Amino acid sequence: MKVEQLNRSFGAKVSELSLPDLNQDEVQYIYKLWLQYALLIFPQQNLTNSQQIEFAKNFGALEFDLSPISNVRNDGSIRDANDDDIVKSLKGNMEWHHDSTYMPIQAKGAVFTAHKVPKKGGETGWADMRAAYEGLSLAMKEKIEDLSAFHSYEWSQKERFGHKDPKVSEFNSYGFDIDPKPLRPLVKTHSETGQKCLTIGRHINKIEGMSDQEAQNLAKELEEFACSNENWVYHHSWEVGDAVIWDNRCLMHQATMWDLNEPRIMYHSRIEGDPISEAASNYL
Ligand SMILES: [Fe+2]
Repeated sequence: MKVEQLNRSFGAKVSELSLPDLNQDEVQYIYKLWLQYALLIFPQQNLTNSQQIEFAKNFGALEFDLSPISNVRNDGSIRDANDDDIVKSLKGNMEWHHDSTYMPIQAKGAVFTAHKVPKKGGETGWADMRAAYEGLSLAMKEKIEDLSAFHSYEWSQKERFGHKDPKVSEFNSYGFDIDPKPLRPLVKTHSETGQKCLTIGRHINKIEGMSDQEAQNLAKELEEFACSNENWVYHHSWEVGDAVIWDNRCLMHQATMWDLNEPRIMYHSRIEGDPISEAASNYL
């Protein structure tokens, strides 16, 4: 097994191994690497759907085992980009976020694999919320130390992207109907590494003690600070067969645009968060 650190504050490329054939020692070693680097990239694994699910289970129980992230219908046709809720969800994914902050339990991580990729664009980016927190000014650290934000997928898709009512949408609108909206501290301590990190992103629409506009401005300010430093951000250009796993507790991610007339087929497995450490504070 060969491990090459990315030239960033996080991330490593891991090669010369076969993910479906790992023994228990290798699984434990990869879990440790994952905690250390937060993002592991495994080129040319060509996992089947069931191999992907089995690999993801090494990192914990699954929030859901496999979901296509794609602009292609089951019959192979390309989705109409203008008024298709699945395309709107793909566009929403292009804004920086952590997965499932809008659910009572935030996701622990995710496995993502590339099955069909466009000629150009469609990269996935990750940003290191540990390094970003450490890089904040003392004044900003003090300002946000005790602040908590509400995360709403209903808001981030419906109001921002004009998502239709879930009852008439082809998209399953997972997470739309959560009530109350989960409340999460802006600064969190990672349950396994003890490192402090930011929990921010596109689903924040309210912060306790602020107007909605002030809250959204602060969330945007933190995001721009965290996601504009080249040392803390990495965008991966996909090749068919690539697999990655990321730690959703300390990284944000985003998709990037591609020519939506071209097919892009990815599969996502989401690892369930710990019921205590990843619980929203108003669900404990
Ligand atoms: Fe996501």
